[in-house]
Amino acid sequence: MRRLFLPIGFVLLAAFPPTHPLHAQTTNGDAARGKILSRSEQCQECHGETGISTSEHYPKLAGQSAAYIRKQLGDFHDGARKSEIMNAMAANLSPQDIADIATYFSSAPRWSGEQDNFSAAGQRLFLAGDFARSIPACASCHGEKEAGADQGQNPAPAIGGQHESYLANQLHAWKADDRKNSPDDVMNDIARRLSDAEIDALARYLSGLRAMK
Ligand code: HEC
Ligand code: HEC
Repeated sequence: MRRLFLPIGFVLLAAFPPTHPLHAQTTNGDAARGKILSRSEQCQECHGETGISTSEHYPKLAGQSAAYIRKQLGDFHDGARKSEIMNAMAANLSPQDIADIATYFSSAPRWSGEQDNFSAAGQRLFLAGDFARSIPACASCHGEKEAGADQGQNPAPAIGGQHESYLANQLHAWKADDRKNSPDDVMNDIARRLSDAEIDALARYLSGLRAMK
């Protein structure tokens, strides 16, 4: 009997996909529509045509985890993450718009980093953390290949090769509680234990990862 019911379940799901906004997390986005929207909504003007921004102020999005982009746009939309620009940009996006745009940018070829950027202190913290001060290794969540490990409910973003000053600004914002949208405040707890010099070292090291050699 089970063999009979399973396929029927799949057929029903395919014919009647969940459409309620609360199901946006599981809605697959349409990359082609996302591309058109990201142009008409002017996202590309700051973040670049495929999500590789040239300005340090605007984070790179190309190849970022779709689940992470979706969560951030939802947080900007609701005000859980504060940014004057992005709260306005996300205000009128529907859950479907968000899913489509996230799918478009995440499917673009991944960005690369700044070849000359390196910091040994940053590398140590990223790979090993500091046990004595209860600082976990960043790589344990963000992935050793800095690709953004967890794609599920609490996606950890790809951070390797991101703009240096953007990374430093975000870590300072977590530390000062100006950004408070991480699950269980995990990033606030970690950033609070980092000195300003360690934040700079981490941003330096991370921005150099995935550089084209
Ligand atoms: C005028 C420039 C500008 C425009 C236009 C713009 N953004 Fe942004 N975006 C920013 C800035 C600045 C930030 C960083 C905000 C902060 O400091 O937290 C950001 C952050 C983001 C992030 C978070 C990335 C991360 O790594 O956490 C996403 C996702 C994003 N923007 C998507 C979009 C989308 C989608 C649109 C179009 C609907 C858009 N942006 C339009 C400037 C812009
Ligand atoms: C326990 C898991 C975990 C650990 C350990 C961790 N992070 Fe995170 N980090 C996350 C999650 C989850 C997010 C996304 C939060 C959100 O939803 O906005 C995040 C977000 C970030 C961001 C924001 C990226 C962006 O595009 O805006 C930066 C930067 C960051 N982490 C750096 C670090 C660094 C540096 C370390 C090590 C000192 C570290 N993280 C350790 C889980 C973790």
